[in-house]
Amino acid sequence: MCGIVGFTGREGALPILIRGLYSLEYRGYDSAGIAAFTKEGLRVIKTRGRIKNLEDKIIAEGGLDCTCGIGHTRWATHGGPSDRNSHPHLGGKEGKVAVVHNGIIENYLELRQRLEAHGYEFHSETDTETVAHLIDYLHTGRREDLAMTVLKAVGRLRGSYALGVVSMDNPEEIVAARRDNPLVIGLGMGENMIASDITAIISRTRKYIILDDNEVAIVRPDGVVVMNEFGDEVEKEIHTVTWDLSAAEKGGYEHFMIKEIMEQPQAVSSTVRPRVQEGAVRFEELGLTEDRLRKAKYIHIIGCGSALHAGMVGKHVIESMCRIRCSATVASEFRYENPIISPDDLCIVISQSGETADTLAAMRLAKEAGAFTLAIVNVVSSTIAREADGVLYTWAGPEISVATTKAYSAQLSALYLIAANLARICGTIDAQEEAHICDELFALSDRIRQTLQCKEQMQYEASLYANRTHVFFLGRGLDYAAALEASLKLKEISYIHSEAYAAGELKHGTISLIEEGTLVVALATQPALYEKTVSNIREVVARGAAVILVTTEDFDGDASQCQQVIRLPKCQSMFSASLSIVPLQLLAYYVSVQLGLDVDKPRNLAKSVTVE
Ligand code: F6R
Repeated sequence: MCGIVGFTGREGALPILIRGLYSLEYRGYDSAGIAAFTKEGLRVIKTRGRIKNLEDKIIAEGGLDCTCGIGHTRWATHGGPSDRNSHPHLGGKEGKVAVVHNGIIENYLELRQRLEAHGYEFHSETDTETVAHLIDYLHTGRREDLAMTVLKAVGRLRGSYALGVVSMDNPEEIVAARRDNPLVIGLGMGENMIASDITAIISRTRKYIILDDNEVAIVRPDGVVVMNEFGDEVEKEIHTVTWDLSAAEKGGYEHFMIKEIMEQPQAVSSTVRPRVQEGAVRFEELGLTEDRLRKAKYIHIIGCGSALHAGMVGKHVIESMCRIRCSATVASEFRYENPIISPDDLCIVISQSGETADTLAAMRLAKEAGAFTLAIVNVVSSTIAREADGVLYTWAGPEISVATTKAYSAQLSALYLIAANLARICGTIDAQEEAHICDELFALSDRIRQTLQCKEQMQYEASLYANRTHVFFLGRGLDYAAALEASLKLKEISYIHSEAYAAGELKHGTISLIEEGTLVVALATQPALYEKTVSNIREVVARGAAVILVTTEDFDGDASQCQQVIRLPKCQSMFSASLSIVPLQLLAYYVSVQLGLDVDKPRNLAKSVTVE
């Protein structure tokens, strides 16, 4: 949600800020803007629309010759997308302060009224403009560093923020602050940067520090100082980016999404291989002892969107392999439903970004209740990864497309690994069975590679069905969890209404929506349930549905009524969700392409949801 970038150094800042904004555009893209110090003073150029619109506007306004500036790409919360609601926002009557913000200020109305009473005029509907005026109010007429003022100002804010602030008082300096929203500081030679994530700094530097909650940083070309909430200077650990810039580029593909779909074999093998040794699953990084694991009588799995869908698959696998009771709950529900958590429980928290506000809050709740929190996270050193008691990284590499694919697949693999480990510790599988499961997990990445061969077929199917207005996905058990993910993929990037139903449940109401030509995608990968799902297929075919069946190589049920049958390579049925999703990701992708939509940046969405 919203991307922030800032640069201060000796070189022209504009191309660096624009490049940074492009790499953050996946976080929100309804408007963009830059504030920079030029010969004429502090200038702000901002506009509704994409970064390209901003570039055009900057050119039309004669460019921005500067060596220090801040930029923003927005995902609207307070006030719709418009030029005036775009960031940066200026503070004060003279516009001496400019602010970019990611997050939500909960008490902005109250602050706004008080600032209006002091004569401040507001030009937008945003909560951010309140912060800009507040900083101006606290700063004006006082001989105080901007950073000290920002520290004071954030003390009066309720809610969440990552802030970049500049002031005419010091045109080489950026002040950054954070609470519950990510912010990193890139460390260069004679230049430094701030950014919402490392993709925006990696073209300039691999060294960075992570700002923690309630810290404020002073960023100048020749150095960075970080203070805690009391204004004391704090020593920060310097991290190094481990992946290559090419990992965050399209590498010849038309969209990030198709590149990331094709990268799934690699994402799965990088997640599985380091944790499997000589036929056994071994985690060194979990911080979770066997005794502690053995004590777990209940497992809460928490996540949002696709991460939750991965968790639902995980629940099935863990329950069937380990016979431990397990629930998979939407993080935004979990945190407010007064959940029953005992200190012996294990709480598995799943998040690609590691920054999702609801997931983070749910995790904190579980931690407070004494449960062991184990995070499955893709972004290294993200907040969830740092706060969890233990972390299992999915080594999927940077995922840029808003619709997740490879990170989801890597999450599934991480859950299989946890299930196998837990099952051995609890004694529900023996060493031989564990070795067999490890073989299956090793083979998974090749099977996904084989499954990807249906690419052309799915492109063809997409051309047949892209004009549908409703699509239903049906499955039972594990296939239902996979159907939920397939349905989400289609709707989020094609804007076609789609729903996933437990196959046996459709007849309890929703079947009334099936009519001549409705597309139904049925998943049947669990041999014990083949016949049941076939009966459900018959029910929808009888009402005019066209059915695509996704099933296994050895499916022996009656598929004669289906328009298309996609057969998946043979695998242990427990791991089939890793294969069945592949053709359906491709279907969603090609439907979106066919409809001429913005595949990587679907409307209304953002990759990292840092507001609740
Ligand atoms: C869908 C999608 C979202 C995310 C969800 C959680 O394609 O990407 O549903 O899965 O917003 O995000 P993370 O995993 O970053 O917590």
